[in-house]
Amino acid sequence: MDSMISTREATPAQTPRDFLRITADRIAVVTLNNPPVNALGAQSRRHLEEAIGRIERTGRIRGVLLVGSGRGFAGGADIKEFGAPRPGPQTRDLFDRLERLAMPVVACMHGFALGGGLELALAAHYRLATKDVRLGFPETRLGLIPGGGGTQRLPRLLGVKRALDLLLGGREIDASSGLALGLIDEIAGTADPEAAGLEYTRRLLERGAGPRRTRDARGLGEPAIDAATAGAALSRFAADAAPTPEARSVLEAVLATTRGDFDAGIQKERTLFEDCLASDRTAGLVHATLAEHSVRAAGAHSGARARPIKHVGVVGGGTMGVGIAASMLEAGLAVTLVERNDDASAAARVRLEELFQRAAAHGRMTAVQAGAALSRYVGTIDFPTLGACDLVIEAVFEDMRVKRQVFEQLDRVCKTGAILATNTSFLDVGQLAAHTARAADVIGLHFFSPAHVMKLLEIVVPPGVASDVVDSCFALARLIGKIAVPAGVCDGFIGNRILYAYREATSFLVEDGASPYTVDRAMRAFGYAMGPFETVDLTGGDISWAARQRKALTRDPRRRYVEFADRLCERGWFGRKSGRGYYRYAEGRRKGEEDPEVLDILSRERTRKGLRPRDFTDDDIVRRYMAAMINAASEVLREGIARRPYDIDVVFLHGYGFPRWRGGPMKYADSRGLSRILEDIRTFGREDSEFWRPSPLLVDLVRHNSTFGDLNRTVAAGAQAAGS
Ligand code: COA
Repeated sequence: MDSMISTREATPAQTPRDFLRITADRIAVVTLNNPPVNALGAQSRRHLEEAIGRIERTGRIRGVLLVGSGRGFAGGADIKEFGAPRPGPQTRDLFDRLERLAMPVVACMHGFALGGGLELALAAHYRLATKDVRLGFPETRLGLIPGGGGTQRLPRLLGVKRALDLLLGGREIDASSGLALGLIDEIAGTADPEAAGLEYTRRLLERGAGPRRTRDARGLGEPAIDAATAGAALSRFAADAAPTPEARSVLEAVLATTRGDFDAGIQKERTLFEDCLASDRTAGLVHATLAEHSVRAAGAHSGARARPIKHVGVVGGGTMGVGIAASMLEAGLAVTLVERNDDASAAARVRLEELFQRAAAHGRMTAVQAGAALSRYVGTIDFPTLGACDLVIEAVFEDMRVKRQVFEQLDRVCKTGAILATNTSFLDVGQLAAHTARAADVIGLHFFSPAHVMKLLEIVVPPGVASDVVDSCFALARLIGKIAVPAGVCDGFIGNRILYAYREATSFLVEDGASPYTVDRAMRAFGYAMGPFETVDLTGGDISWAARQRKALTRDPRRRYVEFADRLCERGWFGRKSGRGYYRYAEGRRKGEEDPEVLDILSRERTRKGLRPRDFTDDDIVRRYMAAMINAASEVLREGIARRPYDIDVVFLHGYGFPRWRGGPMKYADSRGLSRILEDIRTFGREDSEFWRPSPLLVDLVRHNSTFGDLNRTVAAGAQAAGS
């Protein structure tokens, strides 16, 4: 982020003078100052260039200290610059000049030194860090490799094996691990990076220390630049699953260190980095990251004061209720869970204990933390106990009558100011609110199963809800580590409303001739971890069956309806849990086998309807699936159910397994071209004009040669103007 352009607060523009200060004992203090995270954007790079130039020219500087102002040392490259030509100077050249300086160069890192920030520190001759620091290379999470010399300096400093450990996977480490690895020389005695850095630099100067360039390092005890060791380490890593393109590039760049020549290695890194940067994969991953930042920021900036939430009530101890309780308990909140009878209450507690045991076994929490979380839990059958709660979330059966009764009871027992939330995935939250005498306190909190794992939370905002209730829910989401997206009220809100549409398109595809197994394979090839039919088998076919039955009475008779899924459910084939669904599951096996009987049933359905099966290629399948998704998403935007395309991308990335490297469905639509998507919808509409009705928003965007990306920018600018 460029400090001149995008600093939201009134931070005075930094001048090269602020960037470089020379102490009385001739130590040059270079301070990165580009709020909020000192990303190495164009302006920071220019300042760094100016500072290095002055140090080179001055001649009388004895030592150099690099520090960051504000929250941390440096958050790395400015990801908002990606996707457009990056103005010079480039970090790799700056870091090279910095490393060549003739006096000791020290970096003192605090808060975070990530990606390019850590590469800057590697180009320094000595490194220290405050206790709180987070060190790491997040580049591979963006489909990239370090491009500021990191792939060449880190192996020279730590040895190939340790370097790969850090460069692959985006793991962050703390100061003591950094010290143990030899990444830093010392942990600072004070939290003030400048004071600690100056003290350290003076010590170095007193003992006559000179430059110690990482490019000349030979690893720590490990023969770092040894081809055999490197080869063994590389094959160990490459043997893990299928390496991603960026992992392969990291390996290749690191391998260059074994050939000895540093500058050739830097050139290799540069080529690999630029190739990654130009890829669609990086564009998608960067878009996903920006979408998340933008969604988090929009949630954080809402104006009103939040109501304190310390004690949460949950009604219903099924999978969902227990998952919700677990995520609250893990975040340090107290939870009271109400069930109908003692048996159900005991079963909920067992489920919760199992869940924490699993979390402890997988290292997600320690046994002590699990014990502490459970100590904040009360399971009861006494409904009025909920009177003490600041927020109550009902997670009972998805039936309006049942939920209404719960809300009437909540209205009677809850204290004034308590927030009443429903975890419904489709019912009208406004209608539930109307059943209480405190409609302004009622909101939807749609968690995704398993609720303690899935990061997404749709905050369903009915008309008339108080703004501090909405803010409180965003604050709660942050506390429990969820990414919250606001949604308007409609059947299915953002995610499920769109899901209904592409599921329907998928059911047409199979009735018209594609096998469910071909559809699953095509969507896996597109990037999903699981195809749509495998997913139904995993979550349980009975859930969508109930939804279809619920809609049966109001279904438009002109609309095409595919009974194939019902035929399986009528046989009790609900998926994994019943041993059969679209696939057949052998006892204890998670992976299903294709089932010829399922194909027979499908074939009989086609015959019954007089349909002659057609051939669909993988491309046909993807086009129909995505066109239905994008068209429904456009309607969700047009109706204001979702604020921005970014929000829809985040919902699908975090709630529906959309491949992250594609950025999200809206980003995919932009990359493919909206006019091509619209053309597909119109073509499919010749077979079924009822279902394939182009969204007026999509038509409008195409007419104006506009994109969902433009819409993201317009809405963000509009929101900022409204807030200012
Ligand atoms: N480039 C541009 N902007 C960045 C950024 C980066 N590398 N990293 C963070 N930001 C922005 C965020 O978008 C956010 O902006 P907003 O206030 O407009 O929403 C702001 O900085 C604060 O980020 P946030 O994540 O809320 O701050 P934090 O203190 O919790 O964490 C970091 C700070 C640096 C640890 C964290 O932001 C992070 O991990 N960033 C990504 C690092 C990265 O991937 N670097 C690029 C390597 S190639």
